[in-house]
Amino acid sequence: MGSKSRQASLPIQGVAVLPQGLEDIGSQELQALGAKQITPRRRAASFASDMACFYRLHLQCRLPFRLLREMARFHCDGRDSLYDGVQQALDWERWLHPSMSFRVDVTGTAPGLNHSHFTALQVKNALIDRQRDLWGQRSSIDLNEPDLCLHVHLHRGEAILSLDGSGGSLHRRGYRAAVGVAPLKENLAAGLIRLTGWDGSTPLTDPCCGSGTLLIEATAIALQRFPALHRRFLLESWADFEADLWDAEQRRAHKRQQPTNKAPRILGYEQDAKIAQQARDNISAAGLEEVIEIVQADFRDAPAPEEDHGVVVCNPPYGVRLGDSSELQELYRELGAVLKKDYGGWDLWLLSGNRELTAALRLKAKRRIPVSNGGLDCRWLHYELNRPSADPIPQEN
Ligand SMILES: C[S@@+](CC[C@H](N)C(=O)[O-])C[C@H]1O[C@@H](n2cnc3c(N)ncnc32)[C@H](O)[C@@H]1O
Repeated sequence: MGSKSRQASLPIQGVAVLPQGLEDIGSQELQALGAKQITPRRRAASFASDMACFYRLHLQCRLPFRLLREMARFHCDGRDSLYDGVQQALDWERWLHPSMSFRVDVTGTAPGLNHSHFTALQVKNALIDRQRDLWGQRSSIDLNEPDLCLHVHLHRGEAILSLDGSGGSLHRRGYRAAVGVAPLKENLAAGLIRLTGWDGSTPLTDPCCGSGTLLIEATAIALQRFPALHRRFLLESWADFEADLWDAEQRRAHKRQQPTNKAPRILGYEQDAKIAQQARDNISAAGLEEVIEIVQADFRDAPAPEEDHGVVVCNPPYGVRLGDSSELQELYRELGAVLKKDYGGWDLWLLSGNRELTAALRLKAKRRIPVSNGGLDCRWLHYELNRPSADPIPQEN
């Protein structure tokens, strides 16, 4: 371990990197899976855990992009202290044999270290010089599929060196064979669903479902399907990997999965035939074709649902191109009208990046949660759709 020893009971200090706006709900997910000492930060949450929990987070978390394990922290006020600190941070003889490739990711700055690419080169040089001293050989660099992925964060004269347990981003679940128009990232979609509080016991509909991300993530949450169970993680090659503990966590996750007949009605409308097919392809790749129904139709032509309560989730088009505006205003106006007429008693959650369009719904939001969708400042808006009031009782004259 690095220069600071950790409490024996909680050997891991970790950071979950999260989408902006999902820091609190992401912290709740970490807590539910057994992490301790959780502190939400900007686009991240720090936590402490034992090794079993750290493995569990990799297998069961839905919201983080990545999970980092802190290995060392050291004073860093420039290039030289970075170089020396990296060389002493870990027992590299154990952790980085020249037969392993690696990659270095950098965030933050220090004096003379203002460009992450340049800082990463300094870290790489420190590591390969150390390897040459030890073995007379060096690792190769692999930016796409490294065997070890290091993360260095520079902040206020300190460097934190961490290992990334997954390498590739955890938002890639592997089901997205096809990409529709402006798809949501899978972890953002999962976080949005968690924010609705939907518990999987009532129906869920997406009237503009695109490639089906919200529906797939919602169903995966309801049925406790974990996307990463068959994935290969970089932590499996770490020097202190505990295969028995990992197998136990794999079995635990498998046991939590629910049969598909436990799901309520989950339905999406998509007007574009090609995108509707992409949604179906993604749903089958996720193994959820028995549960999620995609109807290729304009939501304006869809029949009213039979159920008198449920959740509507929606990520309608925002229109970034000039000239889209009046057409989109009309679409939002009609969406609002259809929802008021047919979905009384349901909850609506809508992701919007455009206030003017949202105003065209003519609905009053109960809650507005700021989230970032691929850098675009958006709101996840909650509306309660009222049941149409009963016919007024005729007054006697
Ligand atoms: C922003 S995209 C949704 C992306 C989706 N959340 C995903 O992750 O793939 C909006 C989708 O609404 C569809 N759409 C637009 N107007 C519609 C309508 N009247 N009825 C049904 N779908 C519509 C578009 O074809 C587009 O695929």
